[in-house]
Amino acid sequence: MAEQRPVAGLTSGSTETLRESLSQPRLDDDLDVLTMTEEVRAFAHDRGAIILAHNYQLPEVQDVADFVGDSLELARKAASVPDASVIVFCGVHFMAETAAILNPEKPVVLPDIEAGCPLADMVTPHDVEDLKRQYPGAPVVSYVNTSADVKAVSDICCTSSNAVSVVRSLAASGADTVIFVPDKHLAAFVARQVPDVHIVPGNGFCPTHARFTLEDVERARKEHPEAIVVCHPECVEDVQLACDYVLSTGGMARLPSEVTASEFVVGTEVGMLYRLRTMYPECAFYPLNERAICPNMKKITLPRVLHALTTLEPIVTVPEETARLARSAIERMLVVR
Ligand code: 13P
Repeated sequence: MAEQRPVAGLTSGSTETLRESLSQPRLDDDLDVLTMTEEVRAFAHDRGAIILAHNYQLPEVQDVADFVGDSLELARKAASVPDASVIVFCGVHFMAETAAILNPEKPVVLPDIEAGCPLADMVTPHDVEDLKRQYPGAPVVSYVNTSADVKAVSDICCTSSNAVSVVRSLAASGADTVIFVPDKHLAAFVARQVPDVHIVPGNGFCPTHARFTLEDVERARKEHPEAIVVCHPECVEDVQLACDYVLSTGGMARLPSEVTASEFVVGTEVGMLYRLRTMYPECAFYPLNERAICPNMKKITLPRVLHALTTLEPIVTVPEETARLARSAIERMLVVR
């Protein structure tokens, strides 16, 4: 049997552990991957489907996708797919929901309906209403990692790549206080960049990014003294402050083309390493912590993508009135540059 294809950034031993712990259907060898990739492409073509995938997806899922990107790039892409009759979203639930809100007339299929986001579950519409009562008149920025119900009670959404611009745009319209939910670490990042605005943070965090510690950064600097160390703004503030760059996954994907370095330590979910290694085969990329694996992103497997394409299930839907209100917050975000 050919060697099993590793998950980006992991040793084959930990890949096995990951797949076993997630009870994933596994592909036996590279031949299976190739055959199934061709089947997925053929079905996608017949169905008129576009396959969108987040940077954290498994290598074989990234490879089969029509478009791979960060949350903002995916939202922008989902807002402009006039020729697709179906969207297959390889990511987590809130991402598929965003695509569904932007495409009410198209089926949006999420290959595993259980692929959720614990961070998104850390704020409810009730929490937002409470904050609005405490800070009357303060606009509400909700991270795209929220449910449609939370977006529906927000003024504007943001992603990690445009959070600073979104808050600056509110400041330019006169806001001196901004409610920012749910990620407290992204909120701290924004507060450092926009010090003249009082940011009222939510209390949420991403359990995968919470794995990175200051010790990880110190160890990485010793092991890879020439490398640039970069982390995601969902990391704790100590880690952010110790890194050379704090970037969204889209920013990480651009970084090697913008600097002269050829070695990078990457502090985000390990799927990003496959994306970077594919884009820049001449550079070396090391995980800041190889156990930073999002179990939800990894629920989307090639067999599940194939199943979703053949059955057009499970479909993500959003009630019309919620979608109308949430769409306004998402569209307001999409015009911020
Ligand atoms: P970006 O891809 O927008 O950086 O965000 C990824 C994410 O959702 C982390 O939880």
